[in-house]
Amino acid sequence: MSPFFLELGQTVAERWQALNFDPAAFPSLARLALEERPPSAHVELAELLHEFLSEDAQPTQSQSGFGQPELIVFEHPRFYIQLLFWLDGTTDIHQHTFSGAFHVMEGSSIHSQFAFLEPEPVSAHLQLGRLERLETQLLEKGETVEIVSGKGFVHALFHLETPSITVVVRTHTDPGSGPQFTYLPPHLAVDPFQNDSLTTRRKQLLDVLENIGDPSYPELVCEMLQRLDFERGFFILQNGMVHLQASGFWDEVWAVFEAKHGRLADFVRPTLQEILRRDALVGLRGCVLEVEHRFFLALILNNLDRKDLLRLVGLRYEGDPAETVARWQAELEEGHEDAAWVLEGAASVLN
Ligand SMILES: [Fe+2]
Repeated sequence: MSPFFLELGQTVAERWQALNFDPAAFPSLARLALEERPPSAHVELAELLHEFLSEDAQPTQSQSGFGQPELIVFEHPRFYIQLLFWLDGTTDIHQHTFSGAFHVMEGSSIHSQFAFLEPEPVSAHLQLGRLERLETQLLEKGETVEIVSGKGFVHALFHLETPSITVVVRTHTDPGSGPQFTYLPPHLAVDPFQNDSLTTRRKQLLDVLENIGDPSYPELVCEMLQRLDFERGFFILQNGMVHLQASGFWDEVWAVFEAKHGRLADFVRPTLQEILRRDALVGLRGCVLEVEHRFFLALILNNLDRKDLLRLVGLRYEGDPAETVARWQAELEEGHEDAAWVLEGAASVLN
């Protein structure tokens, strides 16, 4: 077990116990402990990796798929400390069912915070509303941010270097703070941990029909949309959207969904468009290795206004930010066939 994280964990445990494990006190307590002895300044990464790989005396490891990977470096009945490695670097916009603080140990990130306004629950696992970006900042190595469970802290991280490593001091779960919504801008909140295995299997079966080019696909989807509730209909629509658009059946299928759900469908159309835009950007970002270009695409993903875009570029790179942005756009469009149409959606902030 890493002596550094053992000491950090014990410090947090002693201080929190002295406050009778008051949940409201935990985020600031965790942040202060990370700031007092920042892992970014005190942990020798090579040593930590060697110790984790060669010594069996480690805290119990989870089956979590979050992080690439997640290592648990300290455990306590009330909280634990995890190290999250990030290779491709984009998290969804999400909230948490736990609280604590995270610390940038290696790399740096673009960090955006959001508010979900006028929430309207449709089911226990899906809400409609309006997602608004509150602020975007550059988080450099050594910085620490508090995490508060529930809808008061909605954020997304875009890790810039590979790998980026985050240390999280966190509770296991805070009762009553679920579901841990993922936000699909501009209008939907969905529960990614909902275990609707029938819908999962139906989507997989539809993918089989798509892959073999079955001509009954659009008709089957229309029939499903007529029967299904809003939430499950949305997931079927989202799953088939690219294929339906490519095969020319989208308008017909959309008309069925719209006729069935009326006003609720108005929230879905711009959300699906934004999913397409973000998928295209993430796809492009996945093929781009140049650090400057990855930074640029992460900024575009954040839907910044031009002022914020130029401010963040200016924080990280010398020279006139407007010229830098124009150069990056030209370089990307020259080097990648898809870049021009992917960037077209951001035309209003690029020019
Ligand atoms: Fe998070």
